[in-house]
Amino acid sequence: MYSRIIGTGSYLPAKLLTNRDLESVVDTTDEWIYSRSGIRERHIAADDENASDLAVAAARKAMQAADVGPEDIGLIVVATTTPDMIFPSTACLVQHKLGIKNCPAFDMQAVCSGFVYALATADKFLRSGACRHALVIGAEIYSRILDWKDRSTCVLFGDGAGAVVLGLSDTPGVLSTHLHADGSYHEVLSVPGCVSRGEIKGHPFVVMEGSAVFKFAVKVLEEVALEALAANGLSPREVDWLIPHQANIRIIQATAKKLGLGMDKVVATVERHANTSAASIPLALDEAVRDGRIRPGNLVLLEGVGGGFTWGAALLRW
Ligand code: ACO
Repeated sequence: MYSRIIGTGSYLPAKLLTNRDLESVVDTTDEWIYSRSGIRERHIAADDENASDLAVAAARKAMQAADVGPEDIGLIVVATTTPDMIFPSTACLVQHKLGIKNCPAFDMQAVCSGFVYALATADKFLRSGACRHALVIGAEIYSRILDWKDRSTCVLFGDGAGAVVLGLSDTPGVLSTHLHADGSYHEVLSVPGCVSRGEIKGHPFVVMEGSAVFKFAVKVLEEVALEALAANGLSPREVDWLIPHQANIRIIQATAKKLGLGMDKVVATVERHANTSAASIPLALDEAVRDGRIRPGNLVLLEGVGGGFTWGAALLRW
């Protein structure tokens, strides 16, 4: 048996924050942000919205598209770096809000690779016979872990959620998944803070060495794409759609170029969403499914890289 994505959904908070808006927040310009990252605007969650709310909105759309109800879901995995609270997991809150009973629910913490990690995990649950349908969600509110005085980070991220329903299938949907991590890079991209004895210890905001992240991302996104294709006896020219993590258009363009793919084969949403970490891939996937770009039979390559470092890919036959 195999697993296959049978429905997708996404949600973006209503509030839009443009680069021009940011010009009055930090010492920056639309020109600097757009030329370095390809980002023009991002969505920002309302004060009363939490990651579970974004996740639930995306999940409802995915379940509707898959034509499944709460009683059909046998597993919930939520990829998030910005959970509602330390515990319970955001997945448990999502389960409750969706009225889903008696299924395992847990969060996946792999930062921007979180959705690929979550999809790989759910795929293995389904293929082992543990359940028939899984809800796999990426949901993030990065606006709450950004230092809005730090222009080198706050201009790059946004909030949102994307979800898929994975169902059992006798033909392959998920062809293979490939996950990696190297914790020796933990200081290059992190939120080096925690709650200790009721107080925040350390720095609870995103810090990163931008150019080191850039170089590493381009290297491993090429490597893991080739690894996924080789595992299935396929070559880059057979890829119909590349859906990389949406961190920076220059990383996406460099990766596509290394793989010999034109940008017409790449789904890019970073201009309008910015970097939504674990939500970026399912957000882009949902957009390309709903606007008809992704068609039955297409070969779709999802890949991500994020703090840890973690990285991974999932190759799908749609
Ligand atoms: N507005 C104006 N100037 C800025 C801003 C800003 N928002 N931020 C930084 N600068 C300044 C810096 O202070 C520095 O000035 P200095 O030279 O006087 O010291 C200068 O701009 C740095 O400019 P560049 O070196 O040209 O910047 P670069 O081309 O390296 O781009 C960037 C920086 C966009 C961060 C790039 O390194 C990058 O995209 N890295 C990848 C990081 C990334 O995508 N992270 C997302 C999280 S990781 C992930 O999702 C995988």
